[in-house]
Amino acid sequence: MAVPVSTNTPILRVGLAGLGTVGSAVWKRLTSQKDLLQQRTGTEIRVDQVAVRNPKRAKEIGVPENLTTADWRTLVANPDLEVVVELIGGTTDAFELIKTSLQNGKHVITANKALLAEHGAELFATALKNQRHLLFEASVAGGIPIIRALREGLVANRILSIHGIINGTCNYILTRMNEAGLEFKDALAEAKEKGYAEADDSLDVDGHDTAHKAAVLAALAYGFWVPQGELYTEGLRAVEKQDIVYARKLGYGLKLLAIIKTDSDGAVEVRVHPTLIPQSNVLASVSGVFNAVLVRGDVVGDTLYYGRGAGGDPTASAVVSDLAQIAAHFPQEQKARNVGHEALHSRLKTMDEIVSRYYLRLLVVDRPGVLADVARVLASRQIGISSVIQPEAHAGETTPLILMLHDAPESQLKAAISEISTIGAVKAPPVHLRVEDFE
Ligand SMILES: NC(=O)c1ccc[n+]([C@@H]2O[C@H](COP(=O)([O-])OP(=O)(O)OC[C@H]3O[C@@H](n4cnc5c(N)ncnc54)[C@H](OP(=O)(O)O)[C@@H]3O)[C@@H](O)[C@H]2O)c1
Repeated sequence: MAVPVSTNTPILRVGLAGLGTVGSAVWKRLTSQKDLLQQRTGTEIRVDQVAVRNPKRAKEIGVPENLTTADWRTLVANPDLEVVVELIGGTTDAFELIKTSLQNGKHVITANKALLAEHGAELFATALKNQRHLLFEASVAGGIPIIRALREGLVANRILSIHGIINGTCNYILTRMNEAGLEFKDALAEAKEKGYAEADDSLDVDGHDTAHKAAVLAALAYGFWVPQGELYTEGLRAVEKQDIVYARKLGYGLKLLAIIKTDSDGAVEVRVHPTLIPQSNVLASVSGVFNAVLVRGDVVGDTLYYGRGAGGDPTASAVVSDLAQIAAHFPQEQKARNVGHEALHSRLKTMDEIVSRYYLRLLVVDRPGVLADVARVLASRQIGISSVIQPEAHAGETTPLILMLHDAPESQLKAAISEISTIGAVKAPPVHLRVEDFE
């Protein structure tokens, strides 16, 4: 049922930049849900201008020709627009588009985590200076309202930790390696065939996309932007099917996790790497392209957020929710809030300082005394062994030796690994994976 437009219904005028996967889904949802949004926000959200390079694209989606412009600079300069939605991606034009829009007095909504990870501090400072909103719900875990949960729902909490499966492509690959016994390259090829991975797979598979999102979550939780060069990032290329099999035997699943947490001294660690997690932990059962984020607050305890992380519609759902937030208060102004510019600048731990449990896989010659040699090196660095698996082999053959290790600083583990590599019976570079127990 159409909502009658009263003469005093405020109109929020929006400029949409980019009509790709997300931009076209946003256009469709703003059109199909127009009345619902107006009922819920008390404001008409009206797209007044759309920047699209290819006019054929606009026609296909049903954007009237008179609303389109080929140049995003026209949106930014349009004095009638209150909000600009940046969905062109990249970190050059998108940066200029957002910064100039804020300087021109417009609120901005973006899904661009790569841009926020690189230029978040500057863009939020510009937003604050100009008292405009820069909203970014779609930048992490598209369909999951995790940004709003951290900024609003959990505002009473100090965040103790965030563990996120926030890249659907990687989670799909690991799920297929686990369930179908595929090697990494075959699971990646399947993900590409199904449209879950881009032809250029590096952003996802090498962990950079997860790192961009981790930086956004860390800025929300701890108030500072971690330089991408200092954010430890390890992707999936080195993960082998056999590690998933051994992890399972030991009671663990393997996930690419963004780990963001603080200790009692207030030092913060932010890292992205394949991680063994107990099969009993709820994150271990998140499969396929789904995302999940487990947040531990000091007041609330554990909270879990689950849903689709990417794709046009889930991402559009988040973009439209940001628009609705502005619309619900429009034409009144809410105070703009900064992200990552607070007084509580925390110290970022280096990887050498982090303490973790580990999974260590060695390829060794099956002969007496090898395990004792390895254990001696670990003990000399105060690293304890909690369990061992060694498939049966004939004497003198090479065989994997898998060790689960107790908590140790990464620096000690690295030193132990380099010493273990020199043992004559160790026939290949040791493989180690970190373990999270969520304790
Ligand atoms: N896709 C997802 O599932 C998803 C999820 C979360 C966040 N995001 C983020 O959302 C943003 C958009 O992603 P997308 O998947 O929609 O990308 P996309 O499909 O590649 O769409 C980008 C659109 O922007 C247009 N464009 C690029 N540069 C432009 C410029 N200078 N002026 C005007 N138009 C320009 C492109 O036009 P041409 O077609 O002419 O190149 C294309 O139509 C990115 O920041 C991405 O990281 C995407």
